[in-house]
Amino acid sequence: MITLKSSHEIELMRRAGKITAAARALAGEMVRPGVTTQEIDSAVEHFIRKQGAVPSFLHYNGYPASACISVNDEIIHGIPGKRVLAEGDIVSVDVGAYIGGVHGDCAATFPCGRISPEAQDLIDVTRQSFFEGIQFAKEGHRLLDISAAIQEYVESHGYSIVREYVGHGVGAQMHESPEIPNYGHPGRGPRLLRGMTLAIEPMVNAGSAAIQQMSDGWTVKTLDGKWAAHYENTILITDGEPEILTAPAI
Ligand code: MF3
Ligand code: CO
Repeated sequence: MITLKSSHEIELMRRAGKITAAARALAGEMVRPGVTTQEIDSAVEHFIRKQGAVPSFLHYNGYPASACISVNDEIIHGIPGKRVLAEGDIVSVDVGAYIGGVHGDCAATFPCGRISPEAQDLIDVTRQSFFEGIQFAKEGHRLLDISAAIQEYVESHGYSIVREYVGHGVGAQMHESPEIPNYGHPGRGPRLLRGMTLAIEPMVNAGSAAIQQMSDGWTVKTLDGKWAAHYENTILITDGEPEILTAPAI
């Protein structure tokens, strides 16, 4: 069942979304050579708590940190630790904040210092694929219209869509119905209705779509060692354009 949020719940999700987006921005500003992923995670946790919210990911299914920080060939769910970021790395940061009984969820991939044009293109295409997708995030369209638009944009740029992980409804639970694949056929899936809140999150590999699960039980990497990027926002379906609840402040 896909829950439709009341106007009160939507207000609460706006607040959770703003905090989550600000936490992502803070993490992005910290991405530079010499910083450890653990330092970024601590700052994210401190910021979220200072806002009166709770990090959504901490202890979720046993996850040990507040942010997922995934570097280079790591796609998602990288566990922050002693790794020191180096010039040229690309760093995916995924954060969630819970306040007022609802979650915000968003992610982006940030450049560490100067990066290669190839890496920047991967970041840009991944981010833009989200915006291509949400052109269909409107009443009257079906869910997989979003998926198909993301897939078309990513694959037309020569990149691959990760299949094993998908976007999702979000609200009182971090992961609600429906699952939102980043691939699929237009015209399929449930009809979109105002009041749905969805986390749309393309995960894009520069090489093949194949993934490998690391022995830490969390980190997901590309199988071929080529790099990957991630971009995510929580959005609200309205009677017009979608509202990005985790919109960057600037
Ligand atoms: N942010 C992820 C998502 O978008 C979930 C992270 S899993 C966690 O669905 F365990 F790290 F929380
Ligand atoms: Co998500």
